[in-house]
Amino acid sequence: MKNYIKVDEWKIIEEGFDAHHHQVSESIFSLGNGRMGQRANFEEAYSGETLPGNYVAGVYYPDKTRVGWWKNGYPEYFAKVLNAANWTIIDIVLDGEQLDLAKCNVTSFRRELNMKEGYLKRTFTAKTASGKEVSVEACRFCSMVDDETAAIHYAITPLNFSGTITITPAIDGDVVNKDSNYDEKFWDELGKANQPGGGYIVMRTKKTGFEVATGMKFSISQNGETIQPKTETISKEKYIASKIELQAQQGQSISIIKYIANLSSQNHKPEALVASLTATLDRISLKGFDTMLAEQAAAWAEKWKHNDIIIEGDESAQQAIRFNIFQLNQTYTGEDDRLNIGPKGFTGEKYGGSTYWDTEAYCVPFYLATAPQKVTRNLLLYRYKQLGKAIENAALLGFKNGAALYPMVTMDGTECHNEWEITFEEIHRNGAIAYAIFNYVRYTADEAYLADYGFEVLIAIARFWSQRVSWSQDKQQYVMLGVTGPNEYENNVNNNWYTSMLAVWCMKYTMEVAGKVKIANKAKYDALAARIGLDEATEFSRFGHIVENMYLGHDEKQGIFLQQDGYLDKEQILVKDLPATDRPLNQKWSWDRILRSCYIKQADVLQGIYFFEDDYDIDTIRRNFDYYEPRTVHESSLSPCVHAILAAKLGDEARAYEFYLRTARLDLDDYNNDTEDGCHITSMAGTWMAVVEGFGGMRVRDGKLLFQPFIPEKWASFSFHIGFRGALLNIKVSKEGVQIKNLSDVATTVFVYGKDQLVKANDELLVEA
Ligand code: BGC
Repeated sequence: MKNYIKVDEWKIIEEGFDAHHHQVSESIFSLGNGRMGQRANFEEAYSGETLPGNYVAGVYYPDKTRVGWWKNGYPEYFAKVLNAANWTIIDIVLDGEQLDLAKCNVTSFRRELNMKEGYLKRTFTAKTASGKEVSVEACRFCSMVDDETAAIHYAITPLNFSGTITITPAIDGDVVNKDSNYDEKFWDELGKANQPGGGYIVMRTKKTGFEVATGMKFSISQNGETIQPKTETISKEKYIASKIELQAQQGQSISIIKYIANLSSQNHKPEALVASLTATLDRISLKGFDTMLAEQAAAWAEKWKHNDIIIEGDESAQQAIRFNIFQLNQTYTGEDDRLNIGPKGFTGEKYGGSTYWDTEAYCVPFYLATAPQKVTRNLLLYRYKQLGKAIENAALLGFKNGAALYPMVTMDGTECHNEWEITFEEIHRNGAIAYAIFNYVRYTADEAYLADYGFEVLIAIARFWSQRVSWSQDKQQYVMLGVTGPNEYENNVNNNWYTSMLAVWCMKYTMEVAGKVKIANKAKYDALAARIGLDEATEFSRFGHIVENMYLGHDEKQGIFLQQDGYLDKEQILVKDLPATDRPLNQKWSWDRILRSCYIKQADVLQGIYFFEDDYDIDTIRRNFDYYEPRTVHESSLSPCVHAILAAKLGDEARAYEFYLRTARLDLDDYNNDTEDGCHITSMAGTWMAVVEGFGGMRVRDGKLLFQPFIPEKWASFSFHIGFRGALLNIKVSKEGVQIKNLSDVATTVFVYGKDQLVKANDELLVEA
């Protein structure tokens, strides 16, 4: 755990340079705009430990799978989002001596991520080995308005000398992925051009053939005046640069504005890439840095209007929640249904930038409430478009008749996770995808989605479940053998309650949706049924039989759902009784020991109870919570938020707050010592859930928003924005009660503390606690 980030409501601030923090900061101060993003690497050269990272959403490479023992059905490759051309570089040389903070005496240093306006700023003064002292101010951003563009303003002032300063802005396409399986380089150069004032390179990915053109255009000024300096262009393989030598006067600043465009063949015809790139660079350089930055601030202001959370009385919590919301918005904007949310977003390489069940289980609630409806719809469409591959994936494993198994990890719909316990067994992800459809329709009332897309996905998933269960002669019930639940600290278990319960629910829900779609649009239903060869009588009767006769483990004595067969045989020593030195288990214990233990990585039974809370009475929820939580080590960042929400539901405000604290500053304080790999983007949505669904008690019930809030003791008030069926609400919870402001022209009725409250358009009301 670290504690070097300064607390501020709207900014993330690092003061003083400590090379040990640098890679953590490179993650925390990352920038993105949904289309591209980058780690907060320095512009000038840095010879210390660094993880350069520049990513273009959706541009990936199928890296051949590497496993010890090949098993049939393994995916051929692990897709990974590619480290792409580095466009940040502005190399600085002072009278022949390179400016490199790893080799300087850094006398002052401040890095600041301005979350309100969406930019990264860095200022420092440093003395080189030979005693030359400079001050630097650098500011950059990835434009939210024009998501193929970015800009950097870099100003340097010699403080104690006059001499030659050489500035070399560059684009380097010769980059590698740290996680490359065979130390391969994934890009080939396709072309480049370089002239004084700017240039570009076009790179093509091996195998997948994505083309990405990255270009720069720059202007230089000295002492406030734009100049046209002599420039030496440098072109090497996969690299372009412009070397500019300037005579600098002590105390007078030199600055460069570097405009960047990053275009990919996903959005442009390959033959038009260069022309579009040039036009984009011309457009933004004409607009100018200041205008771009002003537009950036306005775009962020608009975002914050819809999704800010304001916490009064706790600045550190305020900073943390904004950081989570900020990073989520930088990662995914919902403009493009081919894109998704990697667990690390654009902040690192871990998890390959691929899509996990995290999206459906954790991110969907955030985007549903804080972004236009189409954003979540696009997340669902992403999976709809990959249905064919999910069916192929299931067929590869021996399933038939259009059964679909969505991948645990994917970029384009193909499974690319290579641990059999996860690829073959962590099948509960299929359930989360069905649940997201249910959640979306419950929230938005967009029933048409079911007829157009949702039902087709549901039927394929239900078909999978109906084939994945088997009939136990012994039990005279259906069972689900050989699975891994969300608790990845146990593999190949039988009758994981969460997975089986979700399977039953999917089949039930699919039949219910079939009924709805048939009534709403019989012609569409018939056409789809014919296309997918639905034999309703036979298939639905099997679904129904499974629903009625599925084995769902339950322990009568303790009144709990059984996580899986045999769980109670394990030695039951609670987490609190483990020596602190044994934790985290995944770093301290052998895998064998973990598998045999009772310790649960993340919400499993409780994940199911969270999804279907209305199906269980409060005593059942309490018994399961009281049993499973003390056995949970929360070694996935996705875990605490579910526990925070359930603790809040159970009225345990102190524990709800305690769980919330474990997620809120996870990356800012490098809680798990792993932020240098990237930020935990998908679990940031969980932090939002802990505030809104936990403390705010927000639910959707019977087509209405329900709030049952409480306020953490330390806080004076908290408020959040929620979009719901055309209405935009600001909900402020304080000791007095709940104030609801309707910021839209759509009246809505909300259910607060057990009573309906009509909130008229552009009106507000206070419901006393
Ligand atoms: C969790 C999974 C999650 C993955 C990516 C793992 O540690 O156990 O549930 O999908 O991380 O976030």
